[in-house]
Order: sequence, then C-alpha cells, then structure tokens
Amino acid sequence: MKHIPYITSLSAFALLVSWNAIVLNTTAAETEIDLSDVKVTKETVELWKEHCSSCHGNDGKGKTKAGRKAKVKDLTDKKYQASFTDTKGFLNTKNGMKDDKGKEQMKAYGEKLKDDQLKQLIKFVRVLPDKKK
Ligand code: HEC
Repeated sequence: MKHIPYITSLSAFALLVSWNAIVLNTTAAETEIDLSDVKVTKETVELWKEHCSSCHGNDGKGKTKAGRKAKVKDLTDKKYQASFTDTKGFLNTKNGMKDDKGKEQMKAYGEKLKDDQLKQLIKFVRVLPDKKK
C-alpha cells in the first residue's frame, strides 16, 4: 500500500491550490477600492504635506526639486489622472513604483500609512484637477 501516501499528498496539494484560489480571489475583491465615501479632511492635507508634497508639491503639479528629480507628472492634469484607476493609484502608493529599469520612482507607503489614510490621499489626488484655476 505504498500508493496511499502519494495519493494523499496529491489531494492535499489539490486542496491547497483551490484554497489559494479562493483566498487570492477574495483578496483581489477586497483591494478593488471605492472612494465614494472617503472624505478629504485636515488630516489628509497634513498627511499630503508630510509624505507626498516633497515630490508632488502642495498643489500636485510636482514643481519641486525632488519632484523634478523623480520625474513626477502633473497630478492636476486630467489626462494623467485618467491613466490610472483609483485601485492602481492606491496600490502603487501602497507598494511603491519602479520604472522599466527597476529604478525606484516612488517608495512604498504601506508600512507608514494605513489603508484608510492612503484612500484619503488618493481622493485628495482626485480633487486636485478641480482646484486648478
Ligand atoms: C520621491 C518622490 C515621490 C513622493 C515623496 C511621492 N511620490 Fe507619488 N509619484 C512619484 C513618481 C515619480 C510617480 C510616477 C510618475 C510616473 O508615472 O512616471 C508617482 C506617481 C503617483 C501616483 C500615480 C500612480 C499611478 O498609478 O500612475 C499617485 C496617485 C501618487 N504618486 C500619489 C502619491 C502619494 C499619495 C504620496 C504620499 C503618500 C506620494 N505620491 C509621494 C514620486 C513621488
């Protein structure tokens, strides 16, 4: 009866695969973010100034020394805004961004900032074009 352990481990493997599929699916569904109920508050502006404006500028245009160096794009530009979804912007801020050569463009903020703070910041980014005069 040498075959039994083999079969058992095979079915255990199959179980693991399907379990992973379930877990990964729920994670994907959870990370699809919805900003409709998120509010920009004083705290959001403070967080932006503390963590983001060195590159993106207080106004989001990125006309700062560090911003030019990191080659940030103008976040008040509607075309640029349309190039990323809320979820992509959220995940890129959370996990960081690298260019094609693997050079860091924006670091990962997932350890410093909580998800709800990151959501507020993405909402803040979204209202930047409306503030532009
Ligand atoms: C070191 C400079 C730097 C800092 C600090 C920084 N960013 Fe960025 N950010 C960048 C660069 C560079 C890009 C990418 C530009 C590009 O698409 O080529 C970027 C892109 C983005 C994008 C667009 C993401 C996408 O999917 O295209 C968002 C949203 C964003 N940043 C938000 C933030 C927020 C929120 C903070 C503060 C928590 C922050 N950034 C801090 C440099 C920075």
